[in-house]
Amino acid sequence: MTRRKKLMLLFGSVIWLCLHLDTVTSDIIKYDRSIIEDANLPAPDLIRKYGYKAEVHKITTKDGFVLTAHRIPKPGAQPVLMVHGLEDSSVGYLVLGPKKSLAYRLSNLGYDIWLLNTRGNRYSRKHKRYQRQMPQFWDFSFHEVGLYDLPAAIDYVLAMTKGFQQLHYIGHSQGTTSFMVMGSERPGYMKKIKLMQALAPVVFCDYIESPFVLLASKYIRPLTFYARTLGIYDFPPEGEVWQRLFYQICSFAFRNTCSYFLLQLMGVDAQQLNVTLVPLFVRHVAGSSFKSLGHYTQLVHSGGFYKYDYFSAVENRRRHGSDTPPEYNLANVDCKVALYYSKNDLLTAVRDVERLRDLLPNVVHDELIPYEKFNHVDFIWGNDVNSMLYDGMVEVMRRSDAGEL
Ligand SMILES: *[C@@H]1O[C@H](CO)[C@@H](O)[C@H](O)[C@H]1NC(C)=O
Repeated sequence: MTRRKKLMLLFGSVIWLCLHLDTVTSDIIKYDRSIIEDANLPAPDLIRKYGYKAEVHKITTKDGFVLTAHRIPKPGAQPVLMVHGLEDSSVGYLVLGPKKSLAYRLSNLGYDIWLLNTRGNRYSRKHKRYQRQMPQFWDFSFHEVGLYDLPAAIDYVLAMTKGFQQLHYIGHSQGTTSFMVMGSERPGYMKKIKLMQALAPVVFCDYIESPFVLLASKYIRPLTFYARTLGIYDFPPEGEVWQRLFYQICSFAFRNTCSYFLLQLMGVDAQQLNVTLVPLFVRHVAGSSFKSLGHYTQLVHSGGFYKYDYFSAVENRRRHGSDTPPEYNLANVDCKVALYYSKNDLLTAVRDVERLRDLLPNVVHDELIPYEKFNHVDFIWGNDVNSMLYDGMVEVMRRSDAGEL
């Protein structure tokens, strides 16, 4: 039996065990039926369930990925491109339903909403040449997302919404990192952006405090090596299997433990995390490449915003033309940028965002969220995210549309 098969067998046994624990504990934790339903609906069905129109669009990138974008259409209206974070999907902007989530709110305000799924997440796992079992398929980080996915999506959306030369861009976490890559490497795209709104921007990682991230960054070299030896290229490996596993474990048997770890990773804010929605959050974890995580952990304490390090001068020369990875050029990111960040975000530190702010040439709005405990996922999952964040964003967009920014 190969190592991979043994691992699969182990996962299988744990899932079986969890399913049984589930039947024991389901009497103890009861969820709203609608929440469980939402947890199991793919994005377009979720949108339709709440009475909105949903379209599915396929966007092919220059390097052969076939991405899926979900649209809440408003033909003739100003397009907004919304890009999710690592391990997330279009569902990130929908998950709290029409009363709370940003995509619905912006749709209600009359915007044409485009929710991109970047390469490797559960909705974007097609490639013209590679199968998802192949290592080549997963050979990407936020670098390729910025280099190929975002430009392809921008071109597609602007071609579909004739009459508009610019779109609003909203990114959360990796959706901001990849945008900075695009700005640096494809500066021509900056003139197609009316306003970039960055939620929890992750670029510099010198003051990051999350103990998990620090630990991962310490061991990233051996971890990368072992993962490759085991043939693991995506994270979580066998995404759909893990997703079900997390779903069972976190929603039923070990919800408190799971919430504890989640908050340790993202920043402790028990007030804004609605535990009755945990099944919904974990079921929609969407997967990504191991290399994406690796690239982030390389940035920790690196002192800069660098391209991927192959830990080999030969390979670095082949890929980057230099022995060590070059830095991205943030001076090229010259579109209008609005920054939103928070003190208790363990995945991006205020001092790191301030350094980014001081390097970007065209920051038009700079907002440190006043609520002290606001964390990395409160930007999309927070109970009071509307009053704490979205009210302000909507006003910034209104001013942008009115030409006041
Ligand atoms: C948590 O979510 C449930 C289900 O959507 C909702 O009824 C409840 O009001 C939420 N709790 C808080 C504190 O917002």
